[in-house]
Amino acid sequence: MSSSFFVYNGILFPTALSSAESLTYLEKEFRFLDDDILSVSYPKSGTHWMQEILGLIWCDGDPSWVQSLPVWERIPWIETVSGLQCALKSPPPRLLASHLPFHIFPKSFLHSKAKVIYTVRNPKDVMISSYHFSKGLKIVADPGTLEEYMEEFLSGSVSYGSWFEHVKNWMEMKDRSNFFIITYEELQQDLRESVRRICHFIGKELNSQQIDSVVENASFHKMKDNNMSNCTQFSDTYYDHTKGKLMRKGISGDWKNHLTVAQNEHFDRVYREKMQGLRMTFPWD
Ligand code: A3P
Repeated sequence: MSSSFFVYNGILFPTALSSAESLTYLEKEFRFLDDDILSVSYPKSGTHWMQEILGLIWCDGDPSWVQSLPVWERIPWIETVSGLQCALKSPPPRLLASHLPFHIFPKSFLHSKAKVIYTVRNPKDVMISSYHFSKGLKIVADPGTLEEYMEEFLSGSVSYGSWFEHVKNWMEMKDRSNFFIITYEELQQDLRESVRRICHFIGKELNSQQIDSVVENASFHKMKDNNMSNCTQFSDTYYDHTKGKLMRKGISGDWKNHLTVAQNEHFDRVYREKMQGLRMTFPWD
């Protein structure tokens, strides 16, 4: 399969997964339902982790659902053609996922009570995770060297656009009661407390044993072994499983094993410049 992209409102999308028609429909006509719950994130920020957590909370900690249905059918990505079809067929209440930048996210969100959980991760770890994952993806161009990939990442010439724009624009929703921000680093630091906060936000209280089961089944090792969540079921047409994998290391700070001092300083300069004016701090700041 050859990698090819199209540009929709300034954002690169892989042709194999999305189309301009369905993105236009999504942006302008798709209607959120008030009881929809969405996991939104920039790719490689812990999307699958949040989907696993949500799926487990949904089933009161019972892992049978997350272990029997592929993640893209359980919680479809609405910006993919097949995910949108799946979302439109799903009976409410729906669990949905999206990597869309805010400016092309369905406008109906602004007038709905649908709840969004936005997961954000240290962009240096996002870049390293994405670099490794892209090596296996046949639908995007080979990432080249890390030096080359870093320039593309920093300039936003990658699928779903700039991390900086994604985060800054989504953060404008931070004061809405139907918007919840959580970091990958918080999930890492205290998964149990994070699960409790997510339960509270979506209005589903679990007892202590149920929360224990969510925490256990959403651990890196359980997910790594769950073929319905670890993307080993990705078709070989799209992914070369000998070159990359989703469940790679699952740690915070792996960037330190990859970036040189000069690359790190360059990243920090760009970060400061692009994130100027955002009155928020993250665990990595
Ligand atoms: P690494 O490549 O750094 O290991 P996404 O789901 O947004 O594509 O993000 C994938 C990243 O999340 C990968 O990071 C993956 O290992 C990590 N991840 C997925 N599930 C996880 C879990 N249960 N615990 C910790 N990290 C997890």
